Amino acid sequence: NKRTKIKELLAGEPTGQQVTVMGWVRTFRNNQFIALNDGSTLNNLQIVVELGLLDEATLKRITTGAALKITGELIPSLGKGQKMEIKAAVIEVLGDSDSEQYPLQPKKHSLEFLREIAHLRFRTNTFSAIFRIRHALAFAIHRFFNEKGFVYLHTPIITSSDAEGAGEMFQVTTLPLAQLPKSAEGGIDFSQDFFGKSTNLTVSGQLEGELAATALGDIYTFGPTFRAENSNTTRHLAEFWMIEPEMAFYDLQDNMDLAEEFIQYLIRYVMEHNAADLSFLDTRQKEEEKALPQAQRSELGLLDKLQFVLDNRFERITYSEAIEVLLQSPAYKKKKFKYEVKWGIDLQSEHERYLVEKHYKKPVIVTDYPKDIKAFYMRQNDDGKTVAAMDILAPGIGEIVGGSQREERLDKLETRMQEMHVPLKEMQWYLDTRRFGTVPHAGFGLGFERMVLFVTGMSNIRDVIPFARTPKNCEF
Ligand code: 4AD
Ligand code: MG
Repeated sequence: NKRTKIKELLAGEPTGQQVTVMGWVRTFRNNQFIALNDGSTLNNLQIVVELGLLDEATLKRITTGAALKITGELIPSLGKGQKMEIKAAVIEVLGDSDSEQYPLQPKKHSLEFLREIAHLRFRTNTFSAIFRIRHALAFAIHRFFNEKGFVYLHTPIITSSDAEGAGEMFQVTTLPLAQLPKSAEGGIDFSQDFFGKSTNLTVSGQLEGELAATALGDIYTFGPTFRAENSNTTRHLAEFWMIEPEMAFYDLQDNMDLAEEFIQYLIRYVMEHNAADLSFLDTRQKEEEKALPQAQRSELGLLDKLQFVLDNRFERITYSEAIEVLLQSPAYKKKKFKYEVKWGIDLQSEHERYLVEKHYKKPVIVTDYPKDIKAFYMRQNDDGKTVAAMDILAPGIGEIVGGSQREERLDKLETRMQEMHVPLKEMQWYLDTRRFGTVPHAGFGLGFERMVLFVTGMSNIRDVIPFARTPKNCEF
């Protein structure tokens, strides 16, 4: 009487063998047909309840959301749309679900509504598909790097540095806030808060990654990172997962090649392993978009979009070229951009999306950004104005990867850190990589949730992480 998962049953043949399944009722039609889901696959298994098998009281307990254990014969189904069904011999109700009170009904609920009952949304087709795909992506990430001989590096979550130098850190303290000393300006003085040291949640594992890469060669991190930025957008989380490979002896070109190969590998993996989930999300997206005016619908469906990304090289342009394209664009001429366009600006999401969605119509890698809008560790180009940075912009999302070749020259790095007020004295550990056997090296960070957004075709980042942490969202 061992339980078999529905996914496994559906992959085999129905030969009248006796099986046991456990799962949750999605629907119960005519007191006869149960659609049972156990989360192993999107597909429900049909259970046929013959007349007289159950008494009235038990029949009433088979409601949407109830948990059941069923034993019976697995036989070919005469019904349309399914290869097999179970002719139930024993049905046991493991857990009741009062349909009057159960928030999920067998109908389509809006994503907004499901976000409010995020603790139950795993039970819907949409969210179970998303989280199976999220899992598959995580697995494929480790597989990709393992095949290439990269070492998975665990970097700390509590750190005392600000890797991005953007000051968007959550402070970590061992003391109750009331007991922290006041600073000269009257605010709280965090400088002594973690057993006498100022600490924060990591914004990136890159700096630690560089320490390991300049010894082990190729490493990657894959963990949670935190940004205390107060941005309430569909692309930002306060807590998100990031994958950060760091490679010794790589230049910017090698870095771009790896990032492109990596993204294509992940898409290919999910297309091969999560076909049913993807095709469900593809249909879902088409249905959602029916309500939109033609101009706002995606030109390609989800599956076609993913295939397109596999079949085409990413466009590679410099930041200066990107600014030229924007200045020449009809959108600019018709004053459609909200933000200013000129050399030196940080590309806004509207600019990034114009480049990928309207102009190049494919993922774009933008390189050589002005040094003043990028982090201190990026390698300075000979023009004195730009750095060897690269961002990958994806259709429908904008920036999905940020990376660079690193400044490996000690003197240049020190000067830049001084100019940017990065605490040199406390970061001697970092400078030692440049002091002893420095080498050209490069790396990038892929925002995991942004990748999941891209692959699932969802449009709000809160819908691709199980428990979203945003400025207004921290229920669990
Ligand atoms: O561009 P970012 O800030 O780069 C770094 O952190 C570098 N240390 C990476 C590296 O070179 N090793 O972040 C990298 C990526 C972005 O491209 C974006 O996909 C994602 O992380 N990201 C966010 N995702 C969700 N919510 C946020 N608030 C994010 N901030 C960045
Ligand atoms: Mg960035």
